[in-house]
Amino acid sequence: MTRILVINGSYRDRGITDQIITTMTEELESAGAEIQTILLRNYPIEFCCNCRECCQQPGELPGRCIRNDAMGELIKTIEQSDGFILASPTNFGTVTALFKRFLERLMVYGYWPWEMNAPKLRKANAAKKKALLVSSCAAPGFFGRWLYGTRKQLKTTAQMIGATPVGTLFTGLVGKEPDQQLSAKQEAKARSLVKKLL
Ligand SMILES: Cc1cc2nc3c(=O)[nH]c(=O)nc-3n(C[C@H](O)[C@H](O)[C@H](O)COP(=O)(O)O)c2cc1C
Repeated sequence: MTRILVINGSYRDRGITDQIITTMTEELESAGAEIQTILLRNYPIEFCCNCRECCQQPGELPGRCIRNDAMGELIKTIEQSDGFILASPTNFGTVTALFKRFLERLMVYGYWPWEMNAPKLRKANAAKKKALLVSSCAAPGFFGRWLYGTRKQLKTTAQMIGATPVGTLFTGLVGKEPDQQLSAKQEAKARSLVKKLL
């Protein structure tokens, strides 16, 4: 059974991101996949403190973080997953602070001894898993996808955990009403895209 891990960096219950994730996970479950969803807004992780302790041990396995919080469990789940949906609304041209906090904690996937100028990715040579990148914005989707930094940050997230993006869903023009609902066309797009994960 394919195990898919969903990381949702939206702040809002039943907003556009939640609706897209619900649509995608329904479709995946009906295709027989096992889903685990992490709602970052309810998930107790702290900020990275830039100590780079986790980057000092060599090897392909994630390094040990000095923080003793739920991120340890989440890293284990990432390791056991076959594919990912990485989702965040676009705020001020990039992922939400909530999602960025999660991304910074993925530094355990970098090997970066103090004498090296830049980190090496531990999963660079590992067999690649698949990831879908999901975002939304008030601007038209086309602008969101190409002008903002969100896609790049979601792509970096995939890269850190050893995944290759196999599709991107950027839902635009979502800022028109407080409880905006996905259109039938947007929902169909979300349903069709998840097939790339299986
Ligand atoms: C603080 C804040 C910053 C935002 N910045 C942008 C932006 O830079 N560009 C844009 O097109 N939309 C922006 N938006 C609109 C959000 O992208 C939109 O509300 C979000 O995608 C909806 O996702 P949700 O329903 O899951 O909350 C911003 C919204 C907020 C509240």
